[in-house]
Amino acid sequence: MAVISGVTGQDGSYLAELLLQKGYAVHGLVRRASTLNRQRIDHLRNDPSTRGRFHLHYADLGDTESLIAVLTAVQPDEVYNLAAQSHVGISFRMPTYTGEVTGLGTVRLLEAVRTLCPGARFYQASTSELFGKAKEIPQNERTPFHPRSPYAVAKLYSYWATVNYREAYGMFAVNGILFNHESPRRGENFVTRKVTRAVAEIVAGRRESVALGNLEARRDWGYAGDFVDAMWRMLQQEEPRDYVIGTGESHSVRELAETAFGEVGIELEWEGEGVDETGRDARTGEIRVTVDPAYFRPAEVDFLLADPSAARRDLGWRPRVTFTELIRMMVRADLEVLGVTA
Ligand code: NAP
Ligand code: GDD
Repeated sequence: MAVISGVTGQDGSYLAELLLQKGYAVHGLVRRASTLNRQRIDHLRNDPSTRGRFHLHYADLGDTESLIAVLTAVQPDEVYNLAAQSHVGISFRMPTYTGEVTGLGTVRLLEAVRTLCPGARFYQASTSELFGKAKEIPQNERTPFHPRSPYAVAKLYSYWATVNYREAYGMFAVNGILFNHESPRRGENFVTRKVTRAVAEIVAGRRESVALGNLEARRDWGYAGDFVDAMWRMLQQEEPRDYVIGTGESHSVRELAETAFGEVGIELEWEGEGVDETGRDARTGEIRVTVDPAYFRPAEVDFLLADPSAARRDLGWRPRVTFTELIRMMVRADLEVLGVTA
């Protein structure tokens, strides 16, 4: 029996799928909104094979009582804390709220587990953003942290809270330090999905171009479906330990744009510099990419690259989907949504 906070998110939906396939009963936490936002998990709710094993409970990481009520009722064996205000750029606009949910929210859940079901295994969704202004390349479990945003600072608090509950109370509580992972279910304001959606809309004739921020930032982008498997593996180990999860390959935002446009036969040609730089269709000359400083961040994370060798060794985990396959999958999915082909 597993509890997943953040079940309506990208990772929560893939993890719920995986655990249900493995025969678990899955209890997802959902927060109240004025419109239902369960598109990513609707297929699981309507699947006859998961009937009676997939349950949703109203709860919020800002509301201790709701967490207590769920854990008291469910008494889970595993708890995956995936809920967060997870957008780095937006965290600069909402630092206090981000700290409240992404930081303190973890302690609310840890404390509820400690008091109500201390034998449950706890997974914390930690992040490569902890490395921030990275002290070395690639980054592994021993690389020092230097967070660069309110989001990353909040995640640092959660990281150490998880370590502390392990050391202080002997709980099986672990951090997965996950590098960026994407999918067709990725939120639309993260850069990969923003680009693949824009490419599909351009093919459909619904827009002309996409405005981006820092084209030089580099990320280690993998496929979310692969990464949730690593979360599960971490909770099946004999000893609780934190792991870095990533592909070991890094690409710039510029390369991401080139790959996504390339997928629909548009070769980008760059000209100009800084905020005046544009990416044109090499064949037609039409501007497809512009730079808008509104998407720059007050402090940037320039270069993330994982060294996932410990996960490979101990968890037997390897990513299956390559960067190019991932972007192809996302572009194809966005084209399909719009009913166009390229
Ligand atoms: P996501 O798509 O943004 O999903 C976040 C989830 O958290 C959603 O289900 C959201 O609910 C829920 N949530 C937000 N605030 C909440 C609150 N106050 N109480 C309860 N639930 C709340 O994020 P993701 O990409 O799946 O990432 C999952 C986790 O991994 C996050 O903690 C993220 O910070 C972390 N992480 C992600 C990556 C990545 O590349 N994707 C890498 C490293 C770490 P609504 O649907 O109602 O908004
Ligand atoms: N979102 C966004 N939008 N990012 C842009 C844009 C744009 O228009 N243009 C350039 N970027 C750059 C950002 O400045 C950043 O350097 C990079 O693209 C990736 O941005 P995001 O896709 O927003 O992801 P992130 O790396 O900041 O954060 C994601 O990954 C983390 C793991 O490293 C989130 O999923 C976090 O929750 C996660 O912890």
